[in-house]
Amino acid sequence: MSTKEKEPANLSRRDFLKISGIAASVPLVVSPTATEAQGQQAGIVGPGAVPITLTVNGKSFSADLEPRVTLLDALREHFDITGPKRVCDRGECGACTVLIDDRPVYSCTTLAIEAQERQIITAEHLGGAQPHAVQSAYVNNDAQQCGLCTPGFTVATKAFLDKHAHGADAEIAHGLAGNLCRCGTYRGIHGVIAQMSGREPKGNAGTTTIAERLATSAEGGA
Ligand code: FES
Ligand code: FES
Repeated sequence: MSTKEKEPANLSRRDFLKISGIAASVPLVVSPTATEAQGQQAGIVGPGAVPITLTVNGKSFSADLEPRVTLLDALREHFDITGPKRVCDRGECGACTVLIDDRPVYSCTTLAIEAQERQIITAEHLGGAQPHAVQSAYVNNDAQQCGLCTPGFTVATKAFLDKHAHGADAEIAHGLAGNLCRCGTYRGIHGVIAQMSGREPKGNAGTTTIAERLATSAEGGA
């Protein structure tokens, strides 16, 4: 332990008065490793690295990480799970969406330490060993271009369909509002949900697979 870390045990009167003043406005520090807020004691971890174990796609991953490390950083930089994409890194685009206990969350605004003892599923494992039907529907509906948003969208779409098996357009727009596509593939994404819901897609979305479109082009069609 450094000299600086030992200081709380040898507080001067001046330090004590400073802390007393702070304690009037913030949770009371009752020891260097615990704080009291609203009558409840809560442990303090960090700021140094601490052991963190995550369950991702059915497997256990462990590393010593600082408590400030986000789930997105832990997945991509420490555990080499790159399905969740870093686009905005500030909770605006949804490219980093993963499922935590079946709920879609932005992994860039979730701390890895908070995600312990939860079941985390990323796009790589959405359908287990095989592609999930939603992912196949993204291909069939030509619902991606650059693909940067697509893993997050597939995760969010699966979560949406789990709750809204036959969502109307307004529900789809609301349910997927947290995910953005710069390439503008939204019509295709509506086609995905229409296909998964057993409805007739609108416009040309979902009516032509990529393979069929290529074959039509080769024959001189549109
Ligand atoms: S990268 Fe997480 S919301 Fe954009
Ligand atoms: S396919 Fe390019 S951002 Fe959505």
